[in-house]
Amino acid sequence: MSNTIKYVLTEDQMPTAWYNIQADLPTPAPAVLHPGTGQPIGPADLAPLFPMDLILQEVSTERSIEIPEEVRNVYRQWRPTPLYRARRLEKALDTPAKIYYKYEGVSPSGSHKPNTAVPQAYYNKKAGVKRLATETGAGQWGSSLAFAGSLFGLEVLVYMVKVSYQQKPYRRALMETFGARVIASPSDTTHAGRMILAEHPESTGSLGIAISEAVEIAAQDDDTKYALGSVLNHVLMHQSIIGLESLTQMEMAGDYPDIIVGCTGGGSNFAGISFPFIGRNLRGEANTRIVAVEPAACPSLTKGKYAYDFGDTAKMTPLVKMHTLGHDFVPSGIHAGGLRYHGMAPLVSHLVQLGQIEPIALQQLETFSAGLEFARAEGILPAPEANHAVAGAIREALKCKESGESKVILFNLCGHGHFDMQAYTDFMAGKLKDFEYSDAEVAMALAGLPSVG
Ligand SMILES: Cc1ncc(COP(=O)(O)O)c(C=O)c1O
Repeated sequence: MSNTIKYVLTEDQMPTAWYNIQADLPTPAPAVLHPGTGQPIGPADLAPLFPMDLILQEVSTERSIEIPEEVRNVYRQWRPTPLYRARRLEKALDTPAKIYYKYEGVSPSGSHKPNTAVPQAYYNKKAGVKRLATETGAGQWGSSLAFAGSLFGLEVLVYMVKVSYQQKPYRRALMETFGARVIASPSDTTHAGRMILAEHPESTGSLGIAISEAVEIAAQDDDTKYALGSVLNHVLMHQSIIGLESLTQMEMAGDYPDIIVGCTGGGSNFAGISFPFIGRNLRGEANTRIVAVEPAACPSLTKGKYAYDFGDTAKMTPLVKMHTLGHDFVPSGIHAGGLRYHGMAPLVSHLVQLGQIEPIALQQLETFSAGLEFARAEGILPAPEANHAVAGAIREALKCKESGESKVILFNLCGHGHFDMQAYTDFMAGKLKDFEYSDAEVAMALAGLPSVG
């Protein structure tokens, strides 16, 4: 019997093309609408914010899109990433389940985010852009774009959600180390930020507000474009390299996942691990259960509405159909800062509607407890966001223990938590709490949804 712990691919085995799930959808996702006219937008409408190569990827229905050699050359520093069999965790849980995890924490910034930061910086540089403006929640995305910007000679301006700016000073320091400028959001540097501060001087910020600030800066300056770390189709496609590698690695292990688990903030790491497998489900080649885990404090998939909404608080972005809690929603200050987004990737939402994805919401304390259990067994400390995937996988493994089934579970360990020690210290001291989000609060948050005919 094999006792292999990790399945590694050589650099030559790294995929040379991304997978685009839009090619396999039985029905396309609903159109993106112009916020002024309510009509479907075209590539030209997005041109002030993104370079044309990325806009064309956004709307492409080609199944495979080649990864440029310049991007592959950067990827090769940490890719292919390892796939592990969590044998010690299986033993600790006393489960007959086989648990595998794909580990994205080996990247320079410690998460999956450079998988899209690098191509986004590359295509912007190619288009002659000088500066990128972006938002960041936990700081993982901001530090990834700062890293990618430094490689391709682009300036990077990051609006960091204020609560994370205060909780995670070292993430900010890392972004500055890579040469980025970091501003706590909401700030007085933009009209959107000043409006929010006038109404809520104590605002702790949100991803929706930080997006408004970054979009405003990009829209006003010809040399600056906007970069988003999640949600958009092209971002999800860049992350597909995670699942494509996992397909080969699971084959090496001689197993195929019965269940795939990922955490969802805007949906990118979840899509990264799951879309290549969902593609197989859609083509009738497999039948894997796909579980999306979100925080109970920001339950867009489980309590939000599938409706057209803005991607940001100041209503500057196009309208997209997604599961949303409303663009005004400001979530509680849970430590999984990257999961505190009011909406969800339209492609993930569409696949939930198609019955391809099962969403669940977990409380903060369960996820930290799962993260500690995982760390004590496997020696890797997960990011608070990734703890949601760990907790979801442990739930499935414990169900197997009850039923006696030896199911194959694969989850995405999308980042390490080395910059999140304060959160772990607080958890171990009993200072963290769960956040309940009542139906009345949901209804209130949803009251401001735009009406679309
Ligand atoms: C480690 C980590 N995981 C997950 C997320 C959530 O984003 P997404 O749902 O796009 O993967 C973030 C976002 O910042 C993150 O930093």
